[in-house]
Amino acid sequence: MSKVSVIGAGNVGATAANVLVTEGIASEVVLLDIKEGVSEGKAMDIMQSANILKLDSVLKGVTNDYAATADSDVVIITSGIPRKPGMTREELIGVNAGIVKSVTENVLKYSPNAIIICVSNPMDTMTYLIHKDTKLPKNRIIGMGGALDSARFRYYLSQAMGCDYNDVDGFVIGGHGDTTMIPVTRLAVNRGVPASEILDAATLEKVAADTMVGGATLTGLLGTSAWYAPGAAAASVAKAILTDSKAMITCSALVEGEYGVSDLCIGVPCILGKNGIEKIVEYKLTAEEKEKFAKSAEAVRKTNADLPL
Ligand code: NAI
Ligand code: 2OP
Repeated sequence: MSKVSVIGAGNVGATAANVLVTEGIASEVVLLDIKEGVSEGKAMDIMQSANILKLDSVLKGVTNDYAATADSDVVIITSGIPRKPGMTREELIGVNAGIVKSVTENVLKYSPNAIIICVSNPMDTMTYLIHKDTKLPKNRIIGMGGALDSARFRYYLSQAMGCDYNDVDGFVIGGHGDTTMIPVTRLAVNRGVPASEILDAATLEKVAADTMVGGATLTGLLGTSAWYAPGAAAASVAKAILTDSKAMITCSALVEGEYGVSDLCIGVPCILGKNGIEKIVEYKLTAEEKEKFAKSAEAVRKTNADLPL
């Protein structure tokens, strides 16, 4: 038996809830939103697929009723506003900081032992805000961004290679921002063969560049930010925790000296298990990658400075 609550029943939250129940990741899922009726309606719609898909999980939608989220093992926070075309994630800080702070406080009243996955943007800064505000152990606060950015990286790699997307591997570290994320092209592989041996340098650079603006490209096409892959990525982080899988997924974690950086949340490869972030994996970076990481950290720190702490 496992319970996950998803706060915010918008595009990302509802998609995450749908993946959680259709994949049977959690036996009980609660979807909560501030807007009357929205989460109830989306939960009812999803549960009307239960007989078709032969689901075992139960999803309930509620309006601002935090008691319904009580004793959640994992809580996914997606509440807040998304960016519109031309906006950066960082511009959302003013509105979203207040929402994330109040939502987290309400969540912890009813689920004091929950592991929190933060999705709301600017995600690294919102994750840091939750650390500062709650003082929870650092393993229990996880920012979801790298899981999505790494999935986009693998998508663009497989497109460029014309291969099965399940055959490629690669990950993105650093901040979850168009100019701050770092697709680690040097370590990307297709069935163990380095991507640099398959793609020429210019193509590999384009894969990295497309990955970095992956979110902005979709925002331009959709008029709001993406939700299918973000929702699935958030559910995948919950799955690694609930199954104690020890999967390595890039997450925004509080760093204390790892990769030469301290006192901020930023994307680093994490081993996830029943305790949340069980380990930060420190890859040996080249001098150029270290420099990019340091710049990325400075950009995240600059956004953090705008937090009302
Ligand atoms: P959306 O606008 O579709 O949904 C947001 C929902 O939050 C709305 O239904 C709204 O009513 C609800 N909400 C607002 N204030 C609330 C409160 N105090 N309590 C409960 N619910 C509240 O937005 P979408 O597309 O689902 O995106 C949600 C957030 O996730 C945005 O900040 C977006 O930028 C971020 N995002 C982050 C990604 C990542 O990789 N970290 C990827 C995609 C989106
Ligand atoms: C995304 O990467 C905007 O963070 C959101 O799609």
